[in-house]
Amino acid sequence: MKKHDILIKTQEYIRKIFLKEGTGHDYYHIERVVINARKILQAEQADDFLVELGAWLHDLGDHKLHDGIDKSEELISAFLASLTVDQAVIDRVVEIVSQVSFSKGNKPSSIEAKIVQDADRLDAIGAIGIARCFAYGGSKSRILYSPDDNERKDSSLQHFYDKLFKLKDLMNTESARLIAGQRHSFMEEYLAEFYREVR
Ligand code: NI
Repeated sequence: MKKHDILIKTQEYIRKIFLKEGTGHDYYHIERVVINARKILQAEQADDFLVELGAWLHDLGDHKLHDGIDKSEELISAFLASLTVDQAVIDRVVEIVSQVSFSKGNKPSSIEAKIVQDADRLDAIGAIGIARCFAYGGSKSRILYSPDDNERKDSSLQHFYDKLFKLKDLMNTESARLIAGQRHSFMEEYLAEFYREVR
C-alpha cells in the first residue's frame, strides 16, 4: 500500500474510534495534532510519514482511555499490520508514540518523536487547551476551581499549574516554542480575568 493510502486509512480508522470521545481526546484533538505536526515539519528535517502516523496514532492506546492500561503497542501494531505496513515502520511508530506522553515523562529520542510530542503539547495549551482542561476535568467529575486550599488540588484549575504552564519550556523544536509562547500568554490573561471574576 502507498504511504498516502496508509495515511488515509489511518485517518479513517481514528475518526471512527474517536469521534464520540468526550474527555477532550476526541477526533478533532488528534486532527489538530496532525495539523500542528505538519506546521512544525516545515521547519525540521524529519520523516514526514513517520511523524504523521505517530500523530494520528498517538492517543490510540492511551491509558486514560483504557482503564489505566496503556495499549498503544498492541493496538498500533495490530492496526498497521492489517495494512501490511513494514515491521520496521511499525516499530518506529510504536517507539515514537511511547515517547510522547507527559505523564510517562519520557524523553523523545528522535526528531520525529520530538515533533509529535510538541504537536500534542501545543493542543494542551492556549484557548483550546483551556477548553480541553475543563472538559477533561468534567469527565472526571472535578470541580472547576475552589477558593479552599484543600479542595483546590482536585480542581481543573490546578491543572494549569501542575501541567499547562510548564509546557512552554518543554517544547523540543523552535517553531513549537514560538507558537507555545503566544498560547501561554493567552492562558495567563485568561487566568487573570478568571480571578477577577471569582474574587
Ligand atoms: Ni493527544
